[in-house]
Amino acid sequence: MLAVHLVSFFFSKLQEDPTKKVDRFLYAMRLHDDQLKDISARFQAEMKKGLSSESNAAAAVKMLPTHVRSTPDGTEKGQFLALDLGGSKFKVLQVKVREGMGIKRGGVEMEERTYPIPKELLIGKGTELFGHVSESLKDFLHQRNISLEKKHPLAFTFSFPCEQTALDQGFLLGWGKNYRPRGLQGKDVVQTLREAIDRTGGLDVEVLAMVNDTVATMMTCGFDDEYCEVGLIIGTGTNACYMEELRHIDLVEGDEGRMCVNTEWGGFGDDESLNDYITEFDRDVDAASNNPGKQIFEKMISGMYLGELVRLVVLKMAKLGLLFDGRVSDALRTKGKITTAHVAAMEEYKNGLKNTKDILTELDLNPSSDDCIAVQHVSTIVSFRSSNLAAAGLAAILSRIKQNRNLRTLRITVGVDGTVYKTHPQYPKRLHKVVRRLLPECHVRFVLSDSGSSKGAALVSAVAQRLASRRRQVDETLAPFRLSQEQLQLVKTRMRAGLEAGLKSKGPSTIKMLPSFVYRTPDGTEKGKYLALDLGGTNFRALLVNFKKGLQHNVRLYHKIYTIPQEIMQGTGEELFDHIAQCVSDFLDYMGMKNAHLPAGFTFSFPCEQTAIDTGTLVSWTKGYKATDCEGHDVVSLLREAIKRRNEFDLDIVAVVNDTVGTMMSCAYEDPQCEIGLIAGTGTNVCYMEELKNIEKTEHKFGKTEEGEKEEHMQDEGTEGEKKEGDAEIPKMCINTEWGGLGDDGSLDDIITPYDVEVNQNSLNPGKQRFEKLTSGMYLGEVVRQVLLDLTRGGLLFRGHVTETLKTPGIFQTKYLSQIESDRLALLQVRSILQQLGLNSTCDDSIIVKEVCGAVSRRAAQLCGAGMAAVVEKIRENRGLDHLNITVGVDGALYKLHPHFAGVLQETARILAPQCNVTFLPSEEGSGKGAALITAVARQKHD
Ligand code: BG6
Ligand code: BG6
Ligand code: GLC
Ligand code: GLC
Repeated sequence: MLAVHLVSFFFSKLQEDPTKKVDRFLYAMRLHDDQLKDISARFQAEMKKGLSSESNAAAAVKMLPTHVRSTPDGTEKGQFLALDLGGSKFKVLQVKVREGMGIKRGGVEMEERTYPIPKELLIGKGTELFGHVSESLKDFLHQRNISLEKKHPLAFTFSFPCEQTALDQGFLLGWGKNYRPRGLQGKDVVQTLREAIDRTGGLDVEVLAMVNDTVATMMTCGFDDEYCEVGLIIGTGTNACYMEELRHIDLVEGDEGRMCVNTEWGGFGDDESLNDYITEFDRDVDAASNNPGKQIFEKMISGMYLGELVRLVVLKMAKLGLLFDGRVSDALRTKGKITTAHVAAMEEYKNGLKNTKDILTELDLNPSSDDCIAVQHVSTIVSFRSSNLAAAGLAAILSRIKQNRNLRTLRITVGVDGTVYKTHPQYPKRLHKVVRRLLPECHVRFVLSDSGSSKGAALVSAVAQRLASRRRQVDETLAPFRLSQEQLQLVKTRMRAGLEAGLKSKGPSTIKMLPSFVYRTPDGTEKGKYLALDLGGTNFRALLVNFKKGLQHNVRLYHKIYTIPQEIMQGTGEELFDHIAQCVSDFLDYMGMKNAHLPAGFTFSFPCEQTAIDTGTLVSWTKGYKATDCEGHDVVSLLREAIKRRNEFDLDIVAVVNDTVGTMMSCAYEDPQCEIGLIAGTGTNVCYMEELKNIEKTEHKFGKTEEGEKEEHMQDEGTEGEKKEGDAEIPKMCINTEWGGLGDDGSLDDIITPYDVEVNQNSLNPGKQRFEKLTSGMYLGEVVRQVLLDLTRGGLLFRGHVTETLKTPGIFQTKYLSQIESDRLALLQVRSILQQLGLNSTCDDSIIVKEVCGAVSRRAAQLCGAGMAAVVEKIRENRGLDHLNITVGVDGALYKLHPHFAGVLQETARILAPQCNVTFLPSEEGSGKGAALITAVARQKHD
């Protein structure tokens, strides 16, 4: 009490200008420019913190990505319903946007109705609040005679912080202002609205976009001013949004272009970073609020709190005897008795003092004229601080935009809304003045959104509608690539039937099931030096393989890679084999072994009809080969003749093997459980160990006395090495399935898309290798290209421009598909890959291209998985086992380099063959080691 008397005594001595005592009393609220610059700098630091993925979680200023990527350009059109929830009024609207011509923007017509929200709903259950929202919507449609049957697109302005993952999804981070309903925090607000609309019933509404009021305001003002890239609300709450460079928004993929960021600047200071600017009145306002400790900056600025700040200051001054002769009324003690409207009225230009007197009298006070001057001045200081702080925040945003764009001067427009800005007589002028003073190098224009925010929300929805329709069309295009479990099961069944049919001696089969004359997998006793040639994958390879001392895993390997030019692949057979002979010659020179006369194994990765290990008649070329005069000929003879023609070195070609067989053997050397070879590369194929008794085809060779021959194999081969438990007695032979031919009889037509048809027709072997054309590296890129062509022709990609590049066959090699689909790649990198290929894409284009690649490669992997399930199931049944453990040796660029292919293949095989435990072992040195192992065995047999 004594202190109070002393202070009042001290102030009563200074009876001069009543504003002076207020100035002194509220010294801490009067911010000068240095302080504002300091606050602005702090806010800039907070923005950075919020944008970075590392610090975002702890950031007080949330910097929420809004998924609004462009300001209006005049092409928006349509008729929308709109809801505007979270400001001082809840409104339902109808907005009609007419498209403009050229640079001229269109026109907008709006009808609106305000619906009061009963107080209890603000603190009741969230679902009840949304029920009221959708009931109001229904009433609006009814009142305006808007059809209830037609589907109406809807735009939703929701003025609370939401974490958005898309335009039509937003998880509520927390309520604020005078809202505190239960049970919605962390929930998707759009979904909640949809559910409420469903519950209301009788409404056919599609919620297209949810936007914050700042964003909607920026868009509203942006419709008339193309420089408008900032939205500001100074109303019940306060907040700002602006167009940020996407490369700075860690939380959103993509580096190109811009996205609007809702700063949620009201939270500035929640981490105590503004404590040195906070007064005891701010602390009291915060403590008595709905959300103590939250929205500290907002509580110093926005309409919900300004009146309360004034009341607390006046109350304190009165208690100290500085006002009303120390008298205090109950009304003055009551929360909410001074509102923002009172603050605005007290500061009115002419009537301000009179208004102040009326307001104070209304509060049962008996103010002197000095009291009125003083209270008016309190109002001015409080509202001035508000506009100063908003100016400091805005200055931070504007200078960030200027820095982002590397500009010396910036011309920009700020779209503004909110009752404080609209109704307080001095507020706009003060705000503009301070912003311009803090940023003299910027030309800032302020535009008031006089029609509220719904026009902007409708514009966002118009863009969303365009995107949604594009999305639907892309989805429809890709739907046939998305195979169901039933379809995959059918593929497995068809593959199984194909395998069985191919083993029969008679009857047609698209799957050739070619005997390989390899009777067992390696046992580790193989030794010696061998040459291996490997033709038919991406490259031709020559290798020298040295199995040392017959010790397993003691292998030395030397190799050289040669490319085969396309004109050789598709020239004459003589040219092709001469070219191979030349490569071999080069390799022998390189190894210094021209005169060694080495035994050689020849991996020849095309279907060959074999009658022995060292002869193979090419049935037909596949993949990119079409050399003349080879089909129907023994390829070993063709190679021998070419070597003879060269007359420079000699080779003893002991074995010809398919790459699948070579791969199986390579891997079986490491893992005795490996009895399957798989290639998923340029082409696709599988081999596996089949029981001789099931291979009717070999009977012509073994004749009727085949039992004796089979006996011989058991003694020759089977007994040589370590026997595998349980099945050592059963004679087997590796079968090269040539599964790529599945579907050549039309059996896959139900899953074949028009794009596959196109790829097949443009291939070197139309009608052949239909399974291969759905699954292997040589064709996947082409399928992707056909889809992209179609989407582009439909105007859904590359702005509808079908370029020469896109018309060029073969531009998408497997390695590009693998790169594009890599998860670690940012969209900008996808764009740069497309750029390398000569395709100029936008960000959205890149997303679609990546999606197309994903659909095509996933289907490929699933089909291979279904095929593999058929093979392992057959082996399991052959052996009469309930459960089979088996290893597949794998090679091929698609399997090894693609980021998802292997995983999807394995997963599909696991699901479709649940009784088999299949291990996939990638071949380390290619199939050459396997070919050398086969050569070693064949050689030992002959020696
Ligand atoms: C209105 C907008 O004009 O202003 C709303 O349509 C916004 O979306 C509101 O929330 C903000 O101001 P106040 O003062 O109503 O909170
Ligand atoms: C290699 C093998 O590693 O992979 C070849 O050595 C095989 O024999 C090839 O043909 C398959 O993969 P791609 O991707 O080269 O066709
Ligand atoms: C509050 C909300 C914010 C909104 C602002 C203005 O600060 O958190 O989302 O933009 O009020 O209405
Ligand atoms: C093709 C060939 C086949 C080979 C496969 C993988 O399908 O016809 O023999 O194994 O490609 O290279």
